[in-house]
This record gives sequence, structure tokens and C-alpha cells, in this order.
Amino acid sequence: MKHLAVIMDGNGRYAEQRGLERKQGHFMGAEAFVTLVRDFPLLPLEIITVYAFSTENYKRPKDEVNSILKIIATFLENKVYKIARENNVTVKFIGDIYSLPEYFHKIIVSAPVFDSDSKIIVIALNYGGLDEVCRAVNKIQAKKINFITEEIIKDNLDTCGLPFPDAVLRYGGEKRLSNFLPLQTIYSELFFINKFWPEYDKSDILFIIEQFGKIKRKFGGLND
Ligand code: FPP
Repeated sequence: MKHLAVIMDGNGRYAEQRGLERKQGHFMGAEAFVTLVRDFPLLPLEIITVYAFSTENYKRPKDEVNSILKIIATFLENKVYKIARENNVTVKFIGDIYSLPEYFHKIIVSAPVFDSDSKIIVIALNYGGLDEVCRAVNKIQAKKINFITEEIIKDNLDTCGLPFPDAVLRYGGEKRLSNFLPLQTIYSELFFINKFWPEYDKSDILFIIEQFGKIKRKFGGLND
């Protein structure tokens, strides 16, 4: 497996079950993400994409939205970038990043970038799959392209240049993709785990990689 996409769900429930505020769950979720970034050099993966904040998450109370965004910004600046730099990991963003609060802009432009064979963490921030498709179509229109091919669609998605995920792993017990990478997951293997994201452990991913290795993938054909 080259590329794993992770839905970091269950922060709120993890906190509520422990009598804590939901924002404390997001803080613990961010700590779990830092652990994943630390583990990344040891994992047999080249790319990890994580769903950090969706376009739909804006429907939550303002206070929770602000807390999630502040937590993400603080962890990126204070922890994630440092670990990524020490380990030659490139950090990229997908999503409608220009509509995020202004304090994110300088954080996003200062993300570590290494050469093309470095490992990559892709953070989906203010990301919605349908929104990504709309933005892609608008980009294509602006270029006055009127014969659309699969390559043109791929090249105008936020994930341009990245291979599609081989697998998606969702934490939190729900079995759906929730507007995460709808086109890119057309042939992804789907895994669901009955743990909340703050309970992340490296062994979860090693187990999924092992299960993935047992699947005969045919992509609609008859052979691998
Ligand atoms: C979903 O759980 C999680 C989120 C909306 C926020 C995810 C953000 C992080 C884990 C922080 C990531 C940090 C960085 C630096 C990228 P939920 O609130 O929907 O949980 P619930 O389903 O139990 O309510």
C-alpha cells in the first residue's frame, strides 16, 4: 500500500463519554495526529491523507468551529511541522484553504516541502468532495477547455499529482465516507474501526496494511 486516507472521527464522543468538553476531544485528536506523524517514518506508506476539517463542519456551533481551527493551527505550527522537518516529510493541504480564517494563510505557506521522493502528509482542511469537484469544474471553465477527459478532471482536483488512496481507514464506528475524496476513492479498499480517533495506535494501521495485502485487486478487470 502506498497511500492511506484516514478519517479521524470520534473526538467529540471520546470526550463526552469521559465527561469532558468536545473541544478537549479535539485537542486529544490533535495529539493523536502528532503521534501518527511521528509514526509515519516507520510505516510502510508513502502518503497519508487525513480529514481534519470538512466544509460541513462549519455547521457546528461557532465556539466548536473556532476551537477546532485554533487547535489545528496551533498543533501545525508548534508540533507537526517540526516533526515533519526532522523526518523529511512534506506537508500539503487540500480543500478550500482560501476561505479559512486569515491566520491560516501564513501557516499553510510555511509548510515543510522536500524533494519529490519524500513522504507526504496531506491535510484535508475546509475540504468537501463536492466542493472540490465544483472548484475543479470552474478551473477547467476558466481555462476554456471544452473537451473533458479523465486526465483533465484529475489534474484540476486539489489532489492533482498525487496517486489516489489505496485504502481509507475510518475511526469512530460509522461506515460512510462523509464527502471525503469521492472521486479519488473509486477503487479504494474501505476499512472501519470501532475506536475513537484519540485512541489511535500504530498497530491499527499495521493491521490494515496486513489485511490490504490479502485482497486481490482487479480494478474492474480480471487480473491484478
Ligand atoms: C471528527 O470528530 C473530528 C473533527 C471534526 C476534527 C478533527 C481534527 C483533528 C483530529 C485535529 C487534527 C489536527 C491537525 C493538526 C491536522 P467529531 O467531532 O465528529 O466526533 P464525534 O463524531 O464523536 O462527534
